[in-house]
Amino acid sequence: MASTLSDLTSSITSALSSLPPQDKIQDAERMQLLEAINRLQAELEPPTVSIPRICFSHYPLVIIRVAQGMGIFDAFVEAKGAQLTLQELSQKIEGDGKLLKRVMRFLCAHRIFKEVAETTYQPLPLAMSFGTGSRPGDMIKHFHACMQASAKIFAYFEERGYKNPDDAYDAPFQLAYNTKEHYFDWLKKNPEAQKSFNAVMMASQQFRGEDWFEVFPVTEKLKLSASASERALLVDIGGGVGHDLIAFRNKFPELTGNLILQDLPQVIDAIKEPLPDGVIAVGHDMFKPQPIQGAKAYYLRTVLHDWPEKQALEALSRIREVMAEDSILLIHEHTTPEGANVPPLAATLDFHMMEIFSALERTEREWVALLETAGFNVANVWKGQSSTHPVALFEATL
Ligand SMILES: C[S@@+](CC[C@H](N)C(=O)[O-])C[C@H]1O[C@@H](n2cnc3c(N)ncnc32)[C@H](O)[C@@H]1O
Repeated sequence: MASTLSDLTSSITSALSSLPPQDKIQDAERMQLLEAINRLQAELEPPTVSIPRICFSHYPLVIIRVAQGMGIFDAFVEAKGAQLTLQELSQKIEGDGKLLKRVMRFLCAHRIFKEVAETTYQPLPLAMSFGTGSRPGDMIKHFHACMQASAKIFAYFEERGYKNPDDAYDAPFQLAYNTKEHYFDWLKKNPEAQKSFNAVMMASQQFRGEDWFEVFPVTEKLKLSASASERALLVDIGGGVGHDLIAFRNKFPELTGNLILQDLPQVIDAIKEPLPDGVIAVGHDMFKPQPIQGAKAYYLRTVLHDWPEKQALEALSRIREVMAEDSILLIHEHTTPEGANVPPLAATLDFHMMEIFSALERTEREWVALLETAGFNVANVWKGQSSTHPVALFEATL
């Protein structure tokens, strides 16, 4: 056991040289170690280090966005990950060499590139993931756009006397973008932003652990009798471009009954690839009467967390009024841990929902309370093992 800080430093340095390659590390083990490192850092860090870390934490997102705009990542993707000198790079990108040098210095300091010799750059895996059209690249665009709302949170609360937001049409987003439109209406008029938003929704699949149908007993609960082949098996409301339903269809090709994908028309219109057999996409506003009556199940993944109480209850009512006696409602959502000292990601996502939607991330108890207020009976709460952020599948009935 390390007895002094210098022993600890030596142990960590030698552990660094014997780390297995990234793809050989189990996620659970990785998270455990990262958690320990974070605790160690929090214990060790004096305010003189914490304060600049907090003050400068927004720059990586901003400078990566600038590097995207200049075409830096695309240049390295095109060069298939080869090293490039400043001069070679300056011929492939937008903007002047002086700025390029400063941007590259920042990106090397943040371990996105490595400067193998002065002004010769080797892209690290993260750099290669930010090219145009990539999901991580779209995530940067999306969260950089959201950051304009983060920058207005303080002004928003100063103007409104620090009242907890609950109006979906008056969040920091509206202040930042000088609009009265709801974020989803604004997206409709901003196709580039809509594109990155859709991509972020698809990318979020990889952060959520098991798919819902790995933790829910699908074949036991979602069976339709042969005589009910006209009945919809599953309606995915706010299902984005269909990523969840496609994964479900691939996993259970034998299940009878159509799978209905519903989302706003501008999202459904963005679907380019043909959907698998039995998956039908329809533009539908979930606040309007639900056209699919008596489906076996209605499913919403991370849809209601975008809405404060008033609209969440309205959307739930539209479902409740068309459910059959044996229909099931499945709500798959992030759950903010109950109790003291929740992890930073959970507390941060809550503010993200607030800044864009005046909404919130709910705890398990808050989800159950919401569903009960909407008149549902919560029959089960299903949970997986491997998510980096807690999620639960709420199974509710009439
Ligand atoms: C956070 S995303 C979740 C997407 C998808 N369920 C997933 O988990 O990846 C919320 C989705 O709700 C959709 N949405 C927003 N307002 C809606 C409405 N009024 N009716 C139907 N869908 C809506 C959005 O377009 C978006 O695709």
